Amino acid sequence: MVGMAVTGSGSAMPAAALDNHALSNLVETSDDWVTTRTGIRQRRVAGPTESLVQLSALAAREAIAMAGLTPKDLDAIVLATSTPDDLFGSAGKIQKELEAPQAVAFDLTAACSGFLFGLVTIAQFLRTGTYRNALVIGADILSRWVDWRDRRTCVLFGDGAGAVVVQATSDRDRLLGFELRSDGSQNDCLQLPYQGKPYHLVDEVDITQGNYQPIFMNGKEVFRFAVKRVPEAIEKALFRAQMDIEQVDWLLLHQANQRILDAVGDRLQVPSEKILSNLATYGNTSAASIPIVLDEAVRADKIQPGDVIAASGFGAGLSWGAAIFEWGR
Ligand code: UT7
Repeated sequence: MVGMAVTGSGSAMPAAALDNHALSNLVETSDDWVTTRTGIRQRRVAGPTESLVQLSALAAREAIAMAGLTPKDLDAIVLATSTPDDLFGSAGKIQKELEAPQAVAFDLTAACSGFLFGLVTIAQFLRTGTYRNALVIGADILSRWVDWRDRRTCVLFGDGAGAVVVQATSDRDRLLGFELRSDGSQNDCLQLPYQGKPYHLVDEVDITQGNYQPIFMNGKEVFRFAVKRVPEAIEKALFRAQMDIEQVDWLLLHQANQRILDAVGDRLQVPSEKILSNLATYGNTSAASIPIVLDEAVRADKIQPGDVIAASGFGAGLSWGAAIFEWGR
């Protein structure tokens, strides 16, 4: 085994759409503000009968079919999410839904960078020959954790799931270069923190019991961070791939804000027609955003086999990273 190839993609969105006009009945905002500042017009939100496992399994089945595999062929399933149905992890339940008994399944948490971190993590198993076929899912239902009274955050996020199949290759590695980074000193810029109240258990023993608090974000800081760090990471990954930005066919960034996509494109001098975006319809779907845009562009015949993609995820942690890969076998 010498490497890996991304051979299938899939995505699944919740049924309900929530547009900016509807949101303006909830908080003091307007379609004009949200569209101008973010590029988002609507987002999907998961209803009471939809779950993260269900959306992930739908996206996964599409990716597996496109790769020409069956779930029984899978050796590993990585679910990148910050919003599992179960805090112990949801990957195991997806494995059961898919009927993929051979696959080891585990969750990976790196917020909006999760899918990219998952892709690079699983690539190492494929490169060493440990596994042959794997599934990387990015899925989030942030609507569960958004403060729907906070206009600074509730207009940004949406729910969804995306998945890719990655396979070991014996000829050539299609993962051409990557860079993964973290900066915990800026952790307080974007959080979904546990907050517990002290609880006296027994004798001298005190614990805490509590819940997770809604998403908090210092939008300006995260914006500044993204516009600086994302181009750096892509340049580092390109350097490792021994490639120039001109050789990249598609810039596939985490969908956080159209102004971030434009600014990164400007810094790297990538023309706008090479920058993939579906922010207008889905908003920021966290770990799901990269595989959802990828799947859309593949199914629209925009991305062709052999195309070079520069992908970058960034978000809470703070964490960020980039991967340069060729689509297809
Ligand atoms: O996925 C994880 C990564 N996340 C990101 O990358 C997000 C990065 N940050 C951003 O995308 C932008 O910072 C935001 C879209 C979150 C905010 O845009 P901004 O241009 O930085 O706006 P701001 O926070 O500076 O707010 C400008 C004004 C404020 O009013 P004042 O204080 O100037 O009077 C806000 O209160 O806009 C106000 N505002 C709103 N007005 C209407 C904030 N949110 C809204 C809103 N509707 N939804």
